[in-house]
Amino acid sequence: MLSVRTEIGTLSSANIGQAVHLYGWVNTRRAHADVIFVDLRDRSGLVQVVFDPGDEAVYAEGVRIRPEFVLAVRGLVRRRPEGTENPGKLLGDIEVVAQEVTVFNSAQTPPFMIRDGVDVDESVRLKYRYLDLRRPELQEVFRMRHGVMQKVRRYLDEAGFLEIETPFLTASTPEGARDYLVPSRVNPGSFYALPQSPQLFKQLLMVAGMEKYFQITRCFRDEDLRADRQPEFTQIDLEMSFVEIDDILPLMEKLIGEIFSEFAGKDIPVPFPRMSYREAMNRFGSDRPDLRFGMELVDVGNVVRGTGFQAFAQVVESGGRAMGLRVPGGASLPRREIDKLTEFVGLFGAKGLAYVTLNDGELKSPILKFFTEGERAELLRVMGAQDGDILFFVAGPEIVVWNSLGNLRLEMGRRFGMIDQSVMSVLWVTDFPLLEYDEKEKRYVAIHHPFTAPRAEDLEKLTEAPLEVRALAYDLVVNGTELGGGSIRIHDRAMQERVFGLLGMDEEQATEKFGFLLDAFSYGTPPHGGIAFGLDRLMMILSGRDNIRDVIAFPKTQSAACLMTRAPAPVAPMQLRDLRIRTEG
Ligand code: AMO
Ligand code: AMP
Repeated sequence: MLSVRTEIGTLSSANIGQAVHLYGWVNTRRAHADVIFVDLRDRSGLVQVVFDPGDEAVYAEGVRIRPEFVLAVRGLVRRRPEGTENPGKLLGDIEVVAQEVTVFNSAQTPPFMIRDGVDVDESVRLKYRYLDLRRPELQEVFRMRHGVMQKVRRYLDEAGFLEIETPFLTASTPEGARDYLVPSRVNPGSFYALPQSPQLFKQLLMVAGMEKYFQITRCFRDEDLRADRQPEFTQIDLEMSFVEIDDILPLMEKLIGEIFSEFAGKDIPVPFPRMSYREAMNRFGSDRPDLRFGMELVDVGNVVRGTGFQAFAQVVESGGRAMGLRVPGGASLPRREIDKLTEFVGLFGAKGLAYVTLNDGELKSPILKFFTEGERAELLRVMGAQDGDILFFVAGPEIVVWNSLGNLRLEMGRRFGMIDQSVMSVLWVTDFPLLEYDEKEKRYVAIHHPFTAPRAEDLEKLTEAPLEVRALAYDLVVNGTELGGGSIRIHDRAMQERVFGLLGMDEEQATEKFGFLLDAFSYGTPPHGGIAFGLDRLMMILSGRDNIRDVIAFPKTQSAACLMTRAPAPVAPMQLRDLRIRTEG
């Protein structure tokens, strides 16, 4: 049956009376005493096909077909008989009377129904991902993902960027995760690392005079997985020469703004607001604040200083901080919930969780006894306390207080339904510290990556107070998710060597690991900077999904496995011998 194909989604009542050739899958089949109805599905839509017993050959095919059989149908479009229309449904007013049917392929009964909103275990869906992907809602996600990728390419092409590929088999490109290693057969005992990002290559492309580069590319990171993390994921990665922050951010705001408007119907005013790291931490306890709700942290250091509440007073006097969080309606939390929340903040290092509840004018709290009447009133005033509230307090090192109350804020915001899903929270977080101190490794580590430039006005602190040096770095934060991050880079060899030194690398180590970059920097390097967005996270937000696996065609599980191909898997002893690799046990 060869002729011009009609995509189901293009059908309408305008086709009534016309002959059409449809190709697709049997979505459902309903056999009545005198007629068989088949909903035929292709990627563009669904239409009802009628198998009339008057036509013996056609009817016989109608009898044997089952869901997910693959068919060609030649037929006539007609208006549905009165009373059988399905006005709620697309193409509910027409149907196609089959005149010739070809069965290309039969199908076993699928392990789950191919329809939206099916309630099946995700492991089954992932094992049969090719069936899962037939569901219209997932097809829509991937149509949108394709659209976003084409949009990005068009936009950056028009802005003068060159799309250039960089290697997957490479040396380690540090972004803070573990590397995936690939053994080299021809160099026994040596390994490639899969790139955690194209960071080094894109900087070298700037040294190479490409000026504006982009790539939509896979990155590989062996790290603990979460709902918004995959071991391989896709970045929209770009880099520009001769730019400053105020050249990069507006260009990106326009791109992101257009994407949100075209693909999610959300208009985000530009320029996006910018908030410094310290402001984000002090107000929201997070460097990726979700601004869809308020409930900001409150500094109570000055209130508790010098009071009889030793646990807090001492912390503040020895340079730590004490902060509070007012949760409206939280007075209803039962004691056992408060105990659980105490454990929760413990995960972030808090030594405890002090609280006060206000119920019908009555105060309840294990800590009020430590305060005088006046101190008590001052605490409630500073917190803006109202009836029905619970006030939480944590004291400790600044980062511990921020992390515990920031996470508590999110948890309470979710639990008390404070997050307004109809708005988008979009902002840049800027002025990150260049470094943080890693207690485990007993050394400084880069907050972004070791190639991020320090702010010029902070340079003098680089030796004396490295933790106070701010970086020329910025993150794009959407609805409390880090969607992208970038920076202006170091382009001076001496400065790069100095930063490597701060990170605990001696000259020999720096040369061994990054000698090629340092060498490149001594051959005329332009000032440059860039950014990378997580395409998968962008797709999650655009499609309103809270699981990254839903926007990746063949994703991996939380334990980094592919349930369909069963990767990773043991390999033949021969392969290991070739690679000169011995495994334990
Ligand atoms: P960064 O490490 O911040 O920066 O990564 C950029 C963006 O990539 C996304 N992302 C991830 N998405 C899914 N799964 C993961 N495991 C994962 N890890 C990161 C996030 C993140 O914001 N080279 C620098 C960019 C630069 O400086 O230009 C970099 O890779 O959305
Ligand atoms: P204590 O005086 O140690 O019995 O503490 C009284 C209350 O304050 C208890 O509810 C503790 O959980 C809480 N608490 C003690 N230390 C801290 C701290 N560093 N941060 C938050 N709460 C604390």
